[in-house]
Amino acid sequence: METIGESLRDLRVLRVHPRLLVFRQKMELKERMQINKVGVLGCGLMGSGIAQVAAQAGYDVIVLEAELKALDKGFAGIDASLAKFVERGPEKGGITALQKDEIRARLRGTQKKEDLAQCDIVIEAIIENIDEKKKVYAALDSMVKRDAIFATNTSSISVTELMTATKRVDRFIGLHFFNPVPLMKLVEVVRTIATSESVMDTAVEFAKKLGKVPVRTSDKTGFIVNRLLVPYLLDAIRAYEEGVGSIPDIDNAMKLGCGYPMGPFTLLDFVGLDTTYYITHVMYDEFKEQRFASPPLLKRLVLAGWYGKKSGKGFYDWSDAKNPVPVKL
Ligand code: 3HC
Repeated sequence: METIGESLRDLRVLRVHPRLLVFRQKMELKERMQINKVGVLGCGLMGSGIAQVAAQAGYDVIVLEAELKALDKGFAGIDASLAKFVERGPEKGGITALQKDEIRARLRGTQKKEDLAQCDIVIEAIIENIDEKKKVYAALDSMVKRDAIFATNTSSISVTELMTATKRVDRFIGLHFFNPVPLMKLVEVVRTIATSESVMDTAVEFAKKLGKVPVRTSDKTGFIVNRLLVPYLLDAIRAYEEGVGSIPDIDNAMKLGCGYPMGPFTLLDFVGLDTTYYITHVMYDEFKEQRFASPPLLKRLVLAGWYGKKSGKGFYDWSDAKNPVPVKL
C-alpha cells in the first residue's frame, strides 16, 4: 500500500486537495473491516486446522460439512491437537486445560449453509475440485452478508476462476495455509486482479491475528511455495528413478545436508501423493514446463491408491506411524 508521502506526491501531480486524501484514507480504514465471526467450509485436515487456529485466536468459528461423520472426524482431530498444546503447557507456548475448553466452546459444526450468513470471512477448504468449489461459493454468495470476505485455501486452482462464481469479486482472496495448520507459521495471501487493496490488508491483518506470518502473493498457479517446492519434490522422485540414491538416503541427504525438517519422500507422503499428483497437472497445464510434469512413478503410486501417510502407504509403509519403513518400488 502506498505511504501518505507517496499519496501526497501523487495528489500534487493530479492537483487533488489534501483534504480529499484524508477523506480517502478514512474511507479505506473504514473499508478494512472488523472480523468477528469466521466460517470454514470443510472439516478435513486443512479445514479443521484453520478452524482450530481461528478459535485459538479468539474468533467465533462455524464449520460447514456435508456429512456429520466428516464433522466428527475433523473435531476429533482438533481435540487431539488441542490436547497436544495442553500437554506442552503455557510456559512452552501451549495452553491450559481451561483455555482448551474456551477454544472448543468457540467452535461449532453445521450442515446448513444458512448458518454462515453472519460470518465476516468464509474460508473454503474443501476438495480440490473446481466445480465443487464453484458450486458452494455460488450457493453461499446469496446467503452470506454482502460485505463478508470469501477466501479459498486452494493450493493450485486459480483464485480468479473461483472468484467468478460470486458477485463479490473485489472481496475474494486466497488464504493458503500449510499442513499441519496449527504448527506451520506461513499463510500465503493471494490477490487476484480484482481484489481490493483494503480486502488484501484486512486478510493480512487477519492472518497475523491467527499468529501466522502472512506473505503477499498474486494469483499465479502454485503461488510462492508450491512454485518452488513442487519441482524439488518431483526432482527427488526423478533422482530415485535414476538410481541416484535410495528413498531413505535421499531423505537423509536433504534433512541432514540442508537442514530441512523432513526429507522429500517423507514430505510427499505427508502432503499426499494424490494431492501432489493433482498439483503437478494444474501447474504443468499453466506453465507447460517439464519441471512441473509428474514422473511416471508418482502416477503409478497414485493409480495403486498409495497416497502416503493418510492411506497407510506411499514411499513409506506407515503401519507403524512412528517408524515408517521405505517401500520397495
Ligand atoms: N497440533 C499441535 N501440536 C502438534 C501437532 C498438531 N497437529 N503435531 C505435532 N505437534 C507437537 C508435538 O506434540 C510436539 O510437541 P512437543 O515439542 O511439546 O513435544 C511438537 O509439535 C513437535 O512435533 P514432532 O516432534 O512430532 O515433529 P517435528 O518436530 O518434526 O515437527 C513438523 C513437526 C512441524 C510437521 C515438522 O516436521 C515440519 O516442519 N515438517 C515440514 C512440514 C511442511 O513442510 N509442511 C508444508 C507442506 S506443503 C503444503 O502444505 C502446501 C500444500 O499446498 C501442498
